[in-house]
This record gives sequence, structure tokens and C-alpha cells, in this order.
Amino acid sequence: MSRIAYVNGQYVRHADAAVHVEDRGYQFADGVYEVCEVWQNKIVDMPRHLDRLGRSLGELRIDWPMSRAAVEFVLRQVVTRNRVRNGLVYIQVTRGVSKRDHFFPPEDVAPSIVVTARSSSPEAAKAQADQGIAVVSYPENRWPRVDIKTVALLPNVLAKQNAKEHGGKEAWYIDGDGNVTEGGSTNAWIVTKDGVLVTRPAESGILRGITRAAVLELIDREGLSFEERPFSLEEAFEAKEAFVTAATSVVMPVTRVDGRIIGNGHPGSVATRLRELFHTATDLQTV
Ligand code: PDD
Repeated sequence: MSRIAYVNGQYVRHADAAVHVEDRGYQFADGVYEVCEVWQNKIVDMPRHLDRLGRSLGELRIDWPMSRAAVEFVLRQVVTRNRVRNGLVYIQVTRGVSKRDHFFPPEDVAPSIVVTARSSSPEAAKAQADQGIAVVSYPENRWPRVDIKTVALLPNVLAKQNAKEHGGKEAWYIDGDGNVTEGGSTNAWIVTKDGVLVTRPAESGILRGITRAAVLELIDREGLSFEERPFSLEEAFEAKEAFVTAATSVVMPVTRVDGRIIGNGHPGSVATRLRELFHTATDLQTV
């Protein structure tokens, strides 16, 4: 079965899917995106992802490419047409196609929309989570508007590639105060020796993760102790556990930071439990 993508009103073979060379996403990274997990044939937290998409669009003054209901329909269609049972659905909206000029294009230029989906292996994800991942710190060098989920991800690409070249799967950005902001494509968490979950406030230098929000609900429901505050790299080295959250990896235990073993070097019980319970705290809509 060949993969299908949705591009500006048409379902096309993934291999043939293309945008114009003067798409502002291509020329200026002038666009935003969302990634939703597909789990057991359901799109996870689609309303929250579309709320955040609307916010990102609003902050950049890009119009919705079509109604929100139509976007939902297309997301479901692309998941269905690609027969994705477990995997991801990706949506990107840019300011549209116009001759290269930094100023916003004329009012009649429509935003571009692309939706793709792909399957992934739950077994491979579980194997990864059973092992835990290594993260590698990196100086925070992104623009201050990391609250907007823009496709301008070059700093993230470089930080993550650096992590990979040093044996890691994720980068942790470190701000000027020595505190962890977030991962290259995840939010960062620790569990202190006293069993307190800690993550940085969403208002300061991070993307307000949708997975993070669901985990916060779980923490509340399970009555776990929690502090929303910045934590330093030093504190992470001393932590009992660490983990990251994102739609692409849900709750992923971290067992090494900059080569130093976290806790006993194995995925922690808190992270493992949050991972197991995760989907009970999400909105699941059948496609
Ligand atoms: N990344 N922080 C950053 C910088 C991210 O790029 C992401 C998501 C997150 C977690 O957000 P959420 O829980 O809503 O997925 C935090 C996506 C998955 C990506 O770029 O692939």
C-alpha cells in the first residue's frame, strides 16, 4: 500500500507530495506544526493539539487554512488512508506561497497545509522505554518565542545531532542560570531523591507540551508530589529519576545525562508508572 499525504486540498501519493519552491515555510520557516500520537487507532488529544495550533497561528498572524472541523476531518482521513494503527499524524501550516519578500504576502495569499501520517512500532518504543535513553546538555540558543510551535527548528536539529554524536537520543537545553529548559523535541522532568516530580513552568522558556499537560493531570489524579519550578543540571545528576515527554515518545525514561548515571541507571518506577497510565489521562478519539 502506498502512503498518502494531504497537500492543499488534495490527497496525493506521499512520494509525489510537494509544495511550491516559494512556499514561505520553505523560504522563511514561516509556519507552524503539530504532531499527534496515534494509539490503537485513536488520535491522542487532538482537541488540545488543535487548540495549540490555533494559538501558534494566532501569535504569527497566520489564518487557519480551513475550518477547525475540516482540519480534524483531514487528520482522521490521513490516518485512515495510511492505515496507521500506532504512529503519528503531522500537520504543518505555513503563510502560503508568494514571491520571496520578508514582508507578509498580500491578503489574498492562502496559507498552505500539509498533513502526513506514519506508523511506528509499539514494540520498538517499549524496548526503548525499558532501556531508557541518554541525554546530552546543550547551551540554550533558541529565540525567546519557544512557546510557538514553529517549523523553525534549526537550533533543535543542531542540539539533537550533537546529542546523537555523543551517544544520546535527546538534547537538554541549559539556560544562562544553569537550569534545564527542555529537550530538543521534548519536555524535561526529574524525580528528586525525596520522590518529588519537578518540571519547569510552561510560562518560562519552554513549549507548553500536550503530553506534559496530560502527565500533570495524572500526577494530580494519582496524588503524587509535584513542584513546577526550574531545575539545574546538577540537580538532575543527583535525581532519583529523569524522563522526557512528547507526543512522539509519550513518557520516556532518561537513564544518563552527559554520561552520568541517573538513579540506579535503570528506568525509574515513577516514569514507568506514568508511561503505563498515560493514555488514561488523554482524550482518545477513534479515527
Ligand atoms: N515535539 N518541547 C519541544 C521543543 C518540542 O518540539 C515538543 C514536541 C515538546 C513536547 O510537546 P508535546 O507533548 O505536545 O508533543 C516539547 C514534537 C513531537 C516534534 O517536534 O516532533
